[in-house]
Amino acid sequence: MQLIQRPRRLRMNEAIRKMVRENQLSVTDLIYPMFVRYGENIKNPVPSMPGVYQYSLDLLPKALEEVVALKIPAILLFGLPATKDEVGSGAYADDGIIQQAVRLIKKHYPDLYVITDVCLCEYTSHGHCGLVQDGRILNDQSVELLVKTAVSQAKAGADMVAPSDMMDGRVGAIREALDVAGFCHIPIMSYAAKCSSAFYGPFRDAAGSAPQFGDRRAYQMDPANSDEAIRETALDIEEGADLIIVKPALAYGDIIYRTKQEFGLPVAAYNVSGEYAMIKAAAANGWLDEKSTVLETLLSLKRAGADLLITYHALDVARWLNLA
Ligand code: PBG
Repeated sequence: MQLIQRPRRLRMNEAIRKMVRENQLSVTDLIYPMFVRYGENIKNPVPSMPGVYQYSLDLLPKALEEVVALKIPAILLFGLPATKDEVGSGAYADDGIIQQAVRLIKKHYPDLYVITDVCLCEYTSHGHCGLVQDGRILNDQSVELLVKTAVSQAKAGADMVAPSDMMDGRVGAIREALDVAGFCHIPIMSYAAKCSSAFYGPFRDAAGSAPQFGDRRAYQMDPANSDEAIRETALDIEEGADLIIVKPALAYGDIIYRTKQEFGLPVAAYNVSGEYAMIKAAAANGWLDEKSTVLETLLSLKRAGADLLITYHALDVARWLNLA
């Protein structure tokens, strides 16, 4: 007699479900993106990202108390400078907002792992990630400024740098400059496969980094491409990337999967601002249960192959996991 196959046997109760569970979320997977800004005594809510704030430097240590208490191992820092210019000088100034923030954080929380975003878009008056000439984004000249940015962040005490600009050759140039400056021990987590995405909308409010003309399609990848994601990632690894980021995350599970399979390096999935905003909006309307939706979403990224999760939900997730 042909016996019926009964996969449900391993789903009978929570004990057996836990025993055979293939993927787990852990607080150590989490990287929490944060926005630091000029000014004093400011905790500015980002309207399209409920629960996310821009903090002035004086309020930053207080905000980090919770991050540290929840045992979130790492933060990813973005900065909003007091003034912007054509060449994004605030990105690589020794007293730039990020450089100041890193020094301050390291004084209060030496063990918190601080990753700095390396890009120009928050610092340029035109909002592009590189230098602009006649409406075009220059590559090699932009790389020179990105290199200066990364080195100045390492000098300030950053534990890791994360270039998000998508200029060609920047990983190799940053690696070389870091090594020359005595920072051969500082890893590079490159936004290797970063698509030109509508899901970044809320972030550009949070970071004040919307391009003032055009869009980013001449440097960020076309969302239609996955072979190109593999080529981009291979280049970054050849140039010295230690970890790679796939961004956005939710609509890009295939790319997380392919990059992990192909290269075996640690992969971070960036669960971006628009992905956060969608769940927050649906939850606020009572249309989705926030906790289970967030946990399922992040678990799906781990299932796809992500090792690390860059997410604005990190505080909530850490709270839920610490209680579980
Ligand atoms: C800057 C940068 C962006 C994000 C991270 N770094 C925005 C962009 O490329 O316009 C997006 C993050 C998010 O949406 O959460 N280069």
